[in-house]
Amino acid sequence: MPVTDHDLQRLKRAVALARKGFFGVEPNPPVGCVIERDGDGIVGEGWHADFGGPHAEVAALRLAAGSAKGATAYVSLAPCGRHGKTPPCADALLDAGITRVVYAAGDPNPDEDGYGVERLRRAGIAVEGPVEGVAAESVLARFHGSLARTNTPWTVCKWAMSIDGRIAPARGAGGAVSGTKARRLTHHWRAHADAVAVGVGTVLADDPLLTCRLEGGLPNGRAPAKRVVFDPALRTPVDGRLVLDATSSPVWILGLGDAPAERRDALEAAGCRVFEIPGAADELDLAAALAVLREHGVQRLLVEGGARIHGAFFRAGLVDQVAAFVAPQVFGGPTAVPAVEDSGIASVGEALRLEEVMWRRIGDDLLMQGYVPDRA
Ligand SMILES: NC(=O)c1ccc[n+]([C@@H]2O[C@H](COP(=O)([O-])OP(=O)(O)OC[C@H]3O[C@@H](n4cnc5c(N)ncnc54)[C@H](OP(=O)(O)O)[C@@H]3O)[C@@H](O)[C@H]2O)c1
Repeated sequence: MPVTDHDLQRLKRAVALARKGFFGVEPNPPVGCVIERDGDGIVGEGWHADFGGPHAEVAALRLAAGSAKGATAYVSLAPCGRHGKTPPCADALLDAGITRVVYAAGDPNPDEDGYGVERLRRAGIAVEGPVEGVAAESVLARFHGSLARTNTPWTVCKWAMSIDGRIAPARGAGGAVSGTKARRLTHHWRAHADAVAVGVGTVLADDPLLTCRLEGGLPNGRAPAKRVVFDPALRTPVDGRLVLDATSSPVWILGLGDAPAERRDALEAAGCRVFEIPGAADELDLAAALAVLREHGVQRLLVEGGARIHGAFFRAGLVDQVAAFVAPQVFGGPTAVPAVEDSGIASVGEALRLEEVMWRRIGDDLLMQGYVPDRA
């Protein structure tokens, strides 16, 4: 049976679901799945949410419960056929009585090599794929491509702003800009990040803790993200919340070699790890800083502000993904802090345009997410 426009629509939905697993499933690929039965419409949807957790097909089949018999499964990636951390998805589809499988992208894993598809075909299932034109390859390729191309982590800049694009009414007049649901989502991202970073300006202004405070704790026994401060002169206060908490989960301070030695000693005595990073005057060389983080096991970095650090990241071309919450409030005063300061972009023509943009409503806020075109 040829692939129809209807099939394409369902595959696009599967790819959109796959994106929800981004930042959670690596080093596995993100995958989404839709199960549809003629006459009953969509009976199940799912995505691979956590490394080691159920694959997309299994999550969708769970939702479909008994209704998957005779249904079609649309998957963004060819179903796996070998035992990994979980049993093969091809078997789960067969056991559930799926009769047709349409998949978007072939599995880039050389060990897999079409094994799941073969297994399904041998069992008499109609399998169509790979199907082009649904952006599945790009979902797979971005994260892995960026890690392979660069010696830096996958870097997401995240902020919460008013509708006039400000992240605080003034420096030092912080406080939650977004609502509870948006903040919960941020904690979910922190749970899946290897490191959460801010500039020292944010530490001085907000005294943040930067921990993941999800109900039920971290998923799948993940280690807490390292808390990182870009702090050229080592101004992070030793009596601030971050440093006082440094013995419960790691705090890494990235400073210049000529920062005062007594500051370094005090931070180290308080349990922080201090890294010496090259740079000039009052700016760290962020590419060098990220290379150090990558060297120390950080593959996913969540940068949570503030304005100057975001600007410096954009200037240095080190951002892979942007996640901005827009809250329904207005600051607008003369001291209000922009989301990104001094990005180096001077005209509309030079503006950095995100790709594969998604908008989502999160409580009363909007979340806009998108990817920066491939960085070298
Ligand atoms: N709503 C939100 O999502 C959100 C999130 C975070 C922060 N905020 C707000 O943002 C404000 C803080 O932003 P901010 O711009 O003042 O501070 P920031 O961006 O957090 O930190 C800036 C500092 O980082 C250091 N730095 C290290 N490497 C740098 C580099 N390559 N380029 C530039 N700076 C570098 C510099 O420290 P030195 O000056 O010591 O050299 C610089 O002053 C606060 O009002 C806070 O409430 C809002």
